[in-house]
Amino acid sequence: MSERPLRGKVAVVTGSGRGIGRAIALELAGRGADICVNFLRKRSAAEATAAEAQARGSRVHLVKANVGELDEIELLIRETVEVLGGVDILVGNAASGVLKPAIEQDLKGWEWTMNINARSVLFAAKAAAPYMIEKGWGRIVTLTSLGSVRVMPEYSVVGVSKAAIEAITRYLAVELAPHGITVNAVSPGVVDTDALKFFPSREVILAEALRRSPVGRLVTPEDVAKVVAFLCSDDAAMICGQTIHVDGGYSVLA
Ligand SMILES: NC(=O)c1ccc[n+]([C@@H]2O[C@H](COP(=O)([O-])OP(=O)(O)OC[C@H]3O[C@@H](n4cnc5c(N)ncnc54)[C@H](OP(=O)(O)O)[C@@H]3O)[C@@H](O)[C@H]2O)c1
Repeated sequence: MSERPLRGKVAVVTGSGRGIGRAIALELAGRGADICVNFLRKRSAAEATAAEAQARGSRVHLVKANVGELDEIELLIRETVEVLGGVDILVGNAASGVLKPAIEQDLKGWEWTMNINARSVLFAAKAAAPYMIEKGWGRIVTLTSLGSVRVMPEYSVVGVSKAAIEAITRYLAVELAPHGITVNAVSPGVVDTDALKFFPSREVILAEALRRSPVGRLVTPEDVAKVVAFLCSDDAAMICGQTIHVDGGYSVLA
């Protein structure tokens, strides 16, 4: 197998300046893909990711775009096509959310969370799909979490957005499969990124994830990135509409 099997492919990874998105962008770059690094607020982190991807031999483009806004999603895909020449891989990774119990949520928090997390996936896929269909090859990977099916403290609306992502993933998978495009979701266990700083119980979450992990360690961003990259490979051509858990066995425990 080629050491750089994704050479000639262009990947857009939403929210790839930091955390899991960064690791995904770098893993795909290491496998030869050119990368569009998307960020919203943290430009310096995104610039560092872009520089690292470039050091791995990729052509790189950096786009500031809020994936919660439809016109900015279109800009993200359009700029990628203009600068890097296409979109072959889309990774819907960016996420945000209002952490509160369900009955304390309001419309603003609902729309914020659903638009950034779930609506973005559908409309980024819609914008990118024509370029993939043209080539008869494409990969779309979405990021979800166990909160889509389990109840976690304060996670209410984020969990609902993740359930929507998994459903969108299945619908896109079936519709796009005849075009050589696979669509799958990856569901990481607890990963110690900046996202956890927003949880009041961060230390408890980390300790509990470690204590219950059958594998005996926390999931790293790189663990997740390697599975995303596998789903982007030709070897994963028959994985269609699935949610793959990368959690060291956490989710299968009673
Ligand atoms: N960490 C975990 O334990 C865990 C577990 C399961 C699933 N996940 C999922 O994995 C994915 C990555 O999580 P993470 O922990 O790496 O998150 P993170 O460290 O909080 O990073 C979030 C990323 O999303 C970007 N972002 C946020 N809102 C955006 C918007 N409106 N438009 C564009 N970009 C936006 C941020 O950009 P800026 O840098 O510009 O702010 C940042 O790059 C998410 O989908 C998350 O739900 C995480």
